[in-house]
Amino acid sequence: MAARERIALTRVITYGTFDLFHDGHRRLLERAKALGDYLIVAVTTENFDDLRGKLNVAQSLMERIKNVEDSGLADEIIIEEYEGQKVQDMQKYKVDIFAIGSDWIGKFDYLNDYCKVVYLERTKGVSSTQLRNETGGVTNLGIVGSGRIASRFVEEARFVSGISIEAVYSRHLSSAEAFVERLELQTATDSFAELLAGVQAIYIASPHGTHYEYARAAIEAGVHVLCEKPLTLTGAQSVELFELANQKGVVLLEAVKTAFSPGFQRMVAVARMGFIGRIRSVDATFTKLVEGGRENQGPDGGSISELATYPLLAAVKLMGTDYVDIHTHSLRGEDGEVEVFSRIDLTYPHGIASARTGIGVKAEGDLVVAGEKGYVYVPAPWWKTEYFETRFEDSRDNKRYYYKFDGDGLRYELAEFAWMIRNNTAESFKLRQSESIAIAKIIEHARKHGQAFS
Ligand code: CTP
Repeated sequence: MAARERIALTRVITYGTFDLFHDGHRRLLERAKALGDYLIVAVTTENFDDLRGKLNVAQSLMERIKNVEDSGLADEIIIEEYEGQKVQDMQKYKVDIFAIGSDWIGKFDYLNDYCKVVYLERTKGVSSTQLRNETGGVTNLGIVGSGRIASRFVEEARFVSGISIEAVYSRHLSSAEAFVERLELQTATDSFAELLAGVQAIYIASPHGTHYEYARAAIEAGVHVLCEKPLTLTGAQSVELFELANQKGVVLLEAVKTAFSPGFQRMVAVARMGFIGRIRSVDATFTKLVEGGRENQGPDGGSISELATYPLLAAVKLMGTDYVDIHTHSLRGEDGEVEVFSRIDLTYPHGIASARTGIGVKAEGDLVVAGEKGYVYVPAPWWKTEYFETRFEDSRDNKRYYYKFDGDGLRYELAEFAWMIRNNTAESFKLRQSESIAIAKIIEHARKHGQAFS
């Protein structure tokens, strides 16, 4: 009896998201189990999926674990939380065989150093991505504007399921046509009404001053709107748009990519959780040198309309929207047409925030959140947060945090937008309507009342 017990079991492990459990998953688990006596299934956490760019997973971790449990095929279920965990699992769970679908061929050969790696042929014709599209439906999204940001958006949209982009609108038909040709879309139009008639949602990437009109017309027509920042150039217009969207039951979201990226959200959480004490000051800078171009032309150009959304996002996320005073200092360019460097100072009841923007002055684009016990430092470019530190008087207490910021980050805002549409949610906690409105009001005030120097 004792001798029999000592006969080692062959232990097999496999990894996956197992979202909307399907036949491909079942067959994979059956074959993995057949390779040995004991099957361990590792299910990925939401955070890990986010970080590896797998956005729009439909089910929660608990639901996905339940899927695997209900299959009756797993002897043990664990969770996969981070890159590099697999090697540790091999030792910890005394794994003999690592099995994974053939879509991963070659990717896990390095695990051969620790166990046997087996790639199992993937079941054809089924995937979670496909099921998500079928069950959640696909939102047809049209693009307004055919500039650089719009092209990047189409490329990034390939990473988000449940969104299909077929049509683009531009005031100039020839640029819409060139865009469609280049990005292999289907429809180019110079009629905004025609665009609205064929889609459920639009992404507005036209010049700043045109956002309000396009957004309003779309919302009136019952079309969801994801709008490039700044949503509008006045507080009143933003208030009006959100009221209209709420009334019409459509989603309106300002496309501030930073707000939806994993690193920035963690940074805000860490800063507000008390490690650095009460937050007393926020300093955020964003400069981008631009020569010529629309940014340098009035009436809608200037560094504030172009860039202030980002540092103001940091201010409102970290210190709130209840500022009591606002002062702006601006430097104008040589021709005096627009301000090219500005500092917007907000006073709060218990702190201060300073947002610096520049299109004609280059500065370090970092972010410092100062608290009573320590501070958070995010190096440039902080608006694509991949790394930050909490720093203290005693540097032995310092801590570093690393996150991933994929591509241009536009996929994060689009994933949030798609999720809101699918779940019939009017407001994102990552960027509340009140926060977008506060940013619009500050931008309006800063542009109007900035004390100008040449
Ligand atoms: N798998 C499979 N056959 C399929 C789909 C998945 O054998 N038709 C395998 C994968 O190769 C992997 C495991 O099932 O070993 C878990 O994959 P997962 O990423 O959860 O499933 P997908 O359907 O590929 O998910 P997605 O579409 O989100 O990428």
